[in-house]
Amino acid sequence: MRNHWYIACRSRQLKRKPIPRTVLGEPLALFRDQEGNAAALIDRCLHRNMALSRGKVDACGLRCCYHGWTYDASGRCTAIPAAPTGGVPETGLRLKSYPVVEKQGFVWVYIGGGEPGHQPPDFPEFGARGWRHWVMEREFEAAAFHCVENFLDVPHTAHVHRGLFRGKKVKEIEIEVTGGADWIQADFVGEGRMDSLIGRLLIPKGAEIVHTDRFTLPYLTRVDYRMAENRQYIVMSQCTPVAPDKTRVFTYMAYRFSPLGGLVGLVFRPLSKVILNQDVVVLRKQTGDLNRTGEARFVYHETDAIARGIRELLDGGSLEGRPPDRKKIRA
Ligand code: FES
Ligand SMILES: [Fe+2]
Repeated sequence: MRNHWYIACRSRQLKRKPIPRTVLGEPLALFRDQEGNAAALIDRCLHRNMALSRGKVDACGLRCCYHGWTYDASGRCTAIPAAPTGGVPETGLRLKSYPVVEKQGFVWVYIGGGEPGHQPPDFPEFGARGWRHWVMEREFEAAAFHCVENFLDVPHTAHVHRGLFRGKKVKEIEIEVTGGADWIQADFVGEGRMDSLIGRLLIPKGAEIVHTDRFTLPYLTRVDYRMAENRQYIVMSQCTPVAPDKTRVFTYMAYRFSPLGGLVGLVFRPLSKVILNQDVVVLRKQTGDLNRTGEARFVYHETDAIARGIRELLDGGSLEGRPPDRKKIRA
């Protein structure tokens, strides 16, 4: 899972001060050089292993707070202030640095081996005409797998988000599941307006709803709802694994609801926060329970739609060439 891009932070969080972040257990010092370019170094000074994220940025790079050793964005040690050479080391000392890409308001980092063979993914409809978007960031006390599973899990919505997202009346929905080398998708057919707060507020009566859930490696989930040509929303979550039981989740929510776009946002944003919080709580409980009862021993039932496929992909399998799988669930 290391040879992928992960979001380390949002662009606006990275200002003059360096910040510490952890990706897959790797401690990172994120900073901007004097030109404003984002950079990532291992958060451990070569000298006495002080966290460099405690330091300051100057013209030579990121300066350690302890004895002032300084590193540029490539990890080259550019100054040892106490050295008689005038502070410029000739030792070729080098610290681990990581490829960084900044786009669409996010700072992505690659902690894998060698050079990344691909670019980080794009968030859809970013800045597109008629679309609005916002971002939520939360730390989940749960493994990234449990987060993605939750984000693409329909049956829990009737219990964990009862009345908010899905209603009390359940109905049968048909699902078609397809997959590829690094993705799996569920297309939901026959999903009418949900009998819930969100359903009543945002979905016109009798609307034909097109709903798809998609997972892409490493831990990217996308949910699309399309109610009409100009009524659509997309929820995309990028999960950055921090530690085995900790995941930082960046959720990008884009929507267009002409002509009521702004108004819809007023309702949609606070509601999304409530829903996300409910998931934070339920996943924290699941993690606590897993730690109490021992390692995970899950039953993958066909109502779990794509959870088994996600597990297979994460375990290195491919779903390429599999025939589409059709099933029904009540939700
Ligand atoms: S620990 Fe960083 S300069 Fe000494
Ligand atoms: Fe949920």
